[in-house]
Amino acid sequence: MSNRFAQELAMFATCAMVFSGCSTGVTDDTELGSRESAVTLGGHLAGITDADFTAAQANFNQVETIDDGVGPIFNEFACGRCHTLGAIGGAGEQIERRFGKVVNGVFSTQSSGGGSLRQLQSLGAFTSASGASCNVAVEHEPTDATVHNVGRLTTALFGIGLVDAMPDTFFTSLVAAEPAAVRGIVNHAAITLPNPADASQNIGTVRVARFGWKADTSNLADFAAGAYLNEMGITTQHCFKGTSITAFATESKPNGVAVAPGCDDLAPPAPPGIPAGTDDAVGVCAANQTELQDDIQNFLTFMTFLAPLPRDLSDLISINAGAPVFNQIGCNGCHVTTTFRTPNPAPNGVPGNFAFNPFSDFAVHDMGTLGDQIGQDGDSVAVTRRMRTAPLWGIRFRNHLLHDGRAADVPSAVLAHDGQGKAAATAFGNLSPTDQHNVVQFVRSL
Ligand code: HEC
Ligand code: HEC
Repeated sequence: MSNRFAQELAMFATCAMVFSGCSTGVTDDTELGSRESAVTLGGHLAGITDADFTAAQANFNQVETIDDGVGPIFNEFACGRCHTLGAIGGAGEQIERRFGKVVNGVFSTQSSGGGSLRQLQSLGAFTSASGASCNVAVEHEPTDATVHNVGRLTTALFGIGLVDAMPDTFFTSLVAAEPAAVRGIVNHAAITLPNPADASQNIGTVRVARFGWKADTSNLADFAAGAYLNEMGITTQHCFKGTSITAFATESKPNGVAVAPGCDDLAPPAPPGIPAGTDDAVGVCAANQTELQDDIQNFLTFMTFLAPLPRDLSDLISINAGAPVFNQIGCNGCHVTTTFRTPNPAPNGVPGNFAFNPFSDFAVHDMGTLGDQIGQDGDSVAVTRRMRTAPLWGIRFRNHLLHDGRAADVPSAVLAHDGQGKAAATAFGNLSPTDQHNVVQFVRSL
């Protein structure tokens, strides 16, 4: 028996003891999920060795430079520079910036102006590999933008591989069972970069989009390659069943204008047959070759096996009093208390039949004035108000809440709920101070 397994057994016993002493309040479902959570903050699920997880984690934390391909514009030098709170992979303090433009009720990302993400840093002045003078300007918001300076706070990745393992039908039936007034909409998106471990994924496979504040990305491989490009300016190329994937191989254009050749960064030139400007390539794809670029594979591995955080049951009296109130005032209409359970075997290699409780339906809801008004090209204004139900697990490790980090504590986050979340926010506001405290303690225990 490995040490890790022994630890998990010990945890199981402790929780069972804690719960045998408590009454109703915390449901059986929630109890199950907590038993199977990781003991060590930032530790890993079964299915990977300590050494492999540590190596993948180190890559996630690796600071990259202009020589590795950072630039021309970027937000940070490492995934682990933003995803920090609680443990590596946590939420963060960095708030990114987005903009857009609405014309005749239709949203535009202003892609010709570099939208909708405004990267916060640029390489500035440097000498290219061939000796040319480069000077990359920092992006600015286009003057004709109508949606300004929208913040996006870094989200936590604990347990996210379990979410990636869930089949589409789980999410659609979850949402179908929600009360009509708060019912969410399940987003779908085609996969650009399939996870080679999951046989159900292919290029273009449409899957429930469950990741990101807007639930616009359908698997973790896509998110990893997109983040490497958009957050760090590192472009990659991959092979899937013999097809070369170049969707992440084009450098960002600051405010829509491509930098001069050689001024994107100082990474070695792409190998023959691969688009120029690709910082990290697998190479020309042989027949049936499937291979993610190394860093992306490591990010995917790290995130897949990063375990959920343990619950904090230190204030059990308030927690047990708050749990039923959370349901009575309708929080569970979106932050569902349903226990998720991974398929057995799970398609991406996480443990099968693993119970967990993220307290989100991973669907989007019309949040009225709280919606961030950012969308995809062609979205109506109503669509831009939709936000993914924020998962509440591990929230006690956060120091800012809501998509733009505007709330410093749980009550202010709740009171800002508008649109489909308005009734629950009002009900929360009408609770006695004791009941409010108990709901907050319940939320902070998850
Ligand atoms: C500059 C800070 C920053 C860096 C660097 C960064 N992220 Fe993030 N990450 C964010 C923000 C902000 C979000 C929320 C984005 C959104 O939903 O619009 C996020 C969200 C995510 C999510 C979605 C989680 C969810 O809640 O569904 C994943 C996965 C992710 N990041 C992976 C990565 C990986 C892998 C890297 C490194 C290649 C990385 N991130 C680098 C800031 C960062
Ligand atoms: C209609 C669906 C809905 C209902 C009902 C709802 N929420 Fe939310 N909740 C959301 C969405 C969507 C977000 C993300 C909003 C944003 O940041 O723009 C969110 C965010 C939060 C956050 C901040 C999480 C974070 O990661 O920053 C907390 C805390 C929260 N909700 C608690 C509650 C509580 C407590 C209740 C009951 C009073 C409740 N919610 C009711 C949909 C809902």
